[in-house]
Amino acid sequence: MFNLKVCVIGGAGYIGSHAVYELIRDGHEVVVIDNLSTGLREMVHKDAKFYLGDITKKGELSSIFKKECEKKPFDVVMHFAAKLIVPESLDQPLEYYHNNVEGVRIMLEVMTEFNIKNVVFSSTAAVYGEPVKNICEEEDPTIPVNPYGETKLASEKLIKWVCKKYNMNYCIFRYFNVAGADETLEIGLKKDNLTHLIPVAIQAALGLREKMIIFGDDYDTRDGSCIRDYIHVSDLAYAHVLGAKYIYENNKSLLVNLGSNKGFTVKEVVKEVEKYIKVPYEIGPRRPGDPAQIVASNKKAKEILGWEPKRGLSDMIKSDMEFRKKNS
Ligand SMILES: NC(=O)c1ccc[n+]([C@@H]2O[C@H](COP(=O)([O-])OP(=O)(O)OC[C@H]3O[C@@H](n4cnc5c(N)ncnc54)[C@H](O)[C@@H]3O)[C@@H](O)[C@H]2O)c1
Repeated sequence: MFNLKVCVIGGAGYIGSHAVYELIRDGHEVVVIDNLSTGLREMVHKDAKFYLGDITKKGELSSIFKKECEKKPFDVVMHFAAKLIVPESLDQPLEYYHNNVEGVRIMLEVMTEFNIKNVVFSSTAAVYGEPVKNICEEEDPTIPVNPYGETKLASEKLIKWVCKKYNMNYCIFRYFNVAGADETLEIGLKKDNLTHLIPVAIQAALGLREKMIIFGDDYDTRDGSCIRDYIHVSDLAYAHVLGAKYIYENNKSLLVNLGSNKGFTVKEVVKEVEKYIKVPYEIGPRRPGDPAQIVASNKKAKEILGWEPKRGLSDMIKSDMEFRKKNS
């Protein structure tokens, strides 16, 4: 058992705040840096140290690193600080490249200046673009179809080159669909204009929106609606603890999918929510660019990290519902 000092950039956001909770539960020291552009100060665990800072501003990041690393250098830096809304990325490509890629470049530059050797990075299924197989594997072609996915792929490549040059280690995680809330219900997905299926269905069920739309029910799937892979945010967050320890201890890099190996259709998700409460919904047209199925293989994550999801769809739905009831 060892304790790491971890800098979590974007630790006031949805996934970052859950990673902070899991790191603290595992006994690590956590420093959060966030510009609160989409994150919330109240989502930061009380035992984590918080700095308001923007990683696209090198001066801000350097001065925080100087202050912290004088006492004890960071063992690992985790990056969650991205803009991530696909339609917005089509509308604002310059802003997305600036925040997502330039932010990573500056983070890496500061890490090299302070001789920090380990970086954990949140990437996405969007780097694969249109899946070529039913179950997505890490070696599949990466051909993003929108600026968001491009910025994540560019960041992955930048991280790999910099790690090679400066003898650093990376852990790149490609996430699929993430849902649910921490068991304490202190943190969860709390944003305006939510687009993720599970919270949207729950908002409709709780009367927090008029209805939800199922986009297309004429796909070549078991019930005609799209199939996606869902992971509970706490399982995903815990993978970051394992990934950080793995690269630190073994002085090795890795890139893995964090998925469940299985998918649920949109209608199956709605039915699961309806076990608790009725969901008002309508069938709408397909959305352009929505593939019929995206499911991740988690073989590599299992083999290397011993990680696999412990919670299922009903845990995601129950915890999100409880969180939403508590916070509406
Ligand atoms: N939510 C998902 O389903 C999903 C799926 C795949 C990948 N991801 C990736 O996971 C990461 C986290 O996503 P999330 O859902 O928690 O998003 P989020 O918007 O809740 O969190 C991002 C956090 O980063 C902060 N941030 C953004 N730009 C910053 C900057 N320049 N400087 C400092 N802080 C900044 C925001 O204030 C926020 O707290 C992202 O990198 C995203 O690409 C998310």
